[in-house]
Amino acid sequence: MKKIFISCALPYANGPCHLGHLRSTYIPADIYARYNRMVGNDVLLVSASDEHGTPIAVKADNEGKTPMEIATRYHNIIANDLKSCDISFDNFSRTTDKIHYEISQNFFLDLYNKDLIYEKEIQQLYCEDCKKFLPDRYVEGICNHCKSEGARGDHCESCGRHLDAVDLIEPQCLTCGATPVIKKSNHYFFRLSSFQEAIEEYINSNEDMPANVRNYAKNWLKEGLKDWILSRDMDWGIPIPLEGVTGKIIYVWGEAFLGYISSASQWSKHTGEKWEDYWKDETIHFIGKDIIYHHAIFWTSFLKAYGCKLPTNIIAGEYLSLEGRKMSTSKGWVIWVEDFLNSYDCDLLRYYLTVNAPLNKDTDFSWDDFGRRVNDELADVLGNFLHRTFTFTQKFFDSAIPEYKNLNDDDMKFYGQIQDIPDNVGGLISEFKFREGLVQIIKIAKEGNKYFNDQEPWKAIKEDPERAANCLYLCNELSKTIAILLKPYIPQTSEKILNIMNLAIDPNWDDSKVSLEIGHNINKPEPLFKKIEDETIEEEKEKLYKNLETEEKQESGEDTMSDIITIDDFGKMDIRIGNILEAEAIDGSKKLLKLKIDVKEKEIQVVAGVAEKYSPEDLINKKVAVLVNLKPAKLFGVKSEGMILATSDSVALLSPDECEIGERIR
Ligand code: 2FM
Ligand code: ZN
Repeated sequence: MKKIFISCALPYANGPCHLGHLRSTYIPADIYARYNRMVGNDVLLVSASDEHGTPIAVKADNEGKTPMEIATRYHNIIANDLKSCDISFDNFSRTTDKIHYEISQNFFLDLYNKDLIYEKEIQQLYCEDCKKFLPDRYVEGICNHCKSEGARGDHCESCGRHLDAVDLIEPQCLTCGATPVIKKSNHYFFRLSSFQEAIEEYINSNEDMPANVRNYAKNWLKEGLKDWILSRDMDWGIPIPLEGVTGKIIYVWGEAFLGYISSASQWSKHTGEKWEDYWKDETIHFIGKDIIYHHAIFWTSFLKAYGCKLPTNIIAGEYLSLEGRKMSTSKGWVIWVEDFLNSYDCDLLRYYLTVNAPLNKDTDFSWDDFGRRVNDELADVLGNFLHRTFTFTQKFFDSAIPEYKNLNDDDMKFYGQIQDIPDNVGGLISEFKFREGLVQIIKIAKEGNKYFNDQEPWKAIKEDPERAANCLYLCNELSKTIAILLKPYIPQTSEKILNIMNLAIDPNWDDSKVSLEIGHNINKPEPLFKKIEDETIEEEKEKLYKNLETEEKQESGEDTMSDIITIDDFGKMDIRIGNILEAEAIDGSKKLLKLKIDVKEKEIQVVAGVAEKYSPEDLINKKVAVLVNLKPAKLFGVKSEGMILATSDSVALLSPDECEIGERIR
């Protein structure tokens, strides 16, 4: 048994959590933590909200609030988001906590006293109207590299480069719009350059470190490490703890890392246990790929400087895009955790974000793919296997695990697979191959379905009851194993299955290898996963695209009108007058009707989303305007060859009573 210190990157307290945060950092860390607890390791899982930095201060200015009010608001939202995703933190604190101030200031002093932090006068932008320096996000201008507008004092969104505010072209104070002047100011620098060799050695010798982290780090090391400015001229933050220094704080990245330690110290204070023991044994940081540099280089140098053991590993989850586009919170192209969980169980999210792609690959959240995986993999494969096993056991064996005898070759092969799976999945999780482990579980559930079909217990129960009993014994055995192996991934579902099986809901990993007792009674089965309707998925997509449209319109200053198109664009649309010949409801859909429309030259089939407004009878013999050259598509499995024109909000059909059938609108 070992002790493991696991941390998750500290989320900035300036917005809620979205799916990207969960995918890159929190879900993987939680799977790893839960698995390790199950194998008997002693885990300390910590994080905190990152509450300093200019974005929070700027947001506070804009809203007429204090930075503390903003940070508190989002700390609560984030803590709640993570809790509703079942992230099993031992402690989740805040960087505005008193312990964090103490630890960060002591750390700074330690490095300062060792001459690893030194003072130097540099030039900074200063707004004479606001009477303040303009660090980082307090100033905007044109990027000196790529010439894009809207570059911030520390970073250009367009070219992704790190900037020095004094190099910005036409800089403007973000608060009052004035042009700042350049003024001298004393700052504190960390001697990062002296850690080049030590960090090279750490990265090169750490063979377990994932390739993405190593490769990024090596590239930066090649460029040569430069000393790093660790202070800012502003009030919101942790004051530089040196006598006579006022109006200066420790740069947010110079103290956020210490949040790992301060959160753990807070935990120690509450529990009386020593967090240091965990750090000494094994330390794993889970982060997003955008902060590999900070962790692999700054943080490790900091730790070296302080004289602390370096992390055992750094695991970096790559980016999640949304429907093929980069996520953007400002454009509304984002799914917030809270919104998602209002409609779907957190296990569906945990499942999808894990199975979707390996952690070290960029990937995409797509509503269609989400719906497909829930329906095919969770409902049809996993849910079906478990449910048929339990209902059969209930019906034919009076809910008791049957006795098995004389296993045949098929049984033995299947039994072997069941016995191998726990070590197989466990091995993958301990190598941080979370997706691969989950895929193995789904794969064996698929095998389970195949085995069940091949054994035909519904026939065997009459013809060869021993065979039916063997089959059901093994299927229950697999169900129990699956329930336990799913615990780190989808803990609520695991608990539901264990409840149905009348087994303890807090198993160890190795309990998955303990055979079920013959005669053990299971509880009443209930379906585990509900399928998601195609229509629901369509609605989710619509909602998302609507967000984007609204934001884009607001950005371009438009209100309700669309983009200008050319007459040629319009000419491409073949809109005809048609007459509705037939109309009928579509099974399972509240919104859609299947229409047959006569457009004179031919009859076409159209699936139209008008059922909430019109009944099929209302539509027979109604004249409508139809786009007839639309690329055919299937909706709810029904072919649609065109689109009838209707208003978007009230869904009123345009009914051109005075026009002739087949006439074209131009
Ligand atoms: O990039 C971010 O979201 C930072 N708030 C992460 C800080 S992680 C560490 F330093 F604690
Ligand atoms: Zn100003």
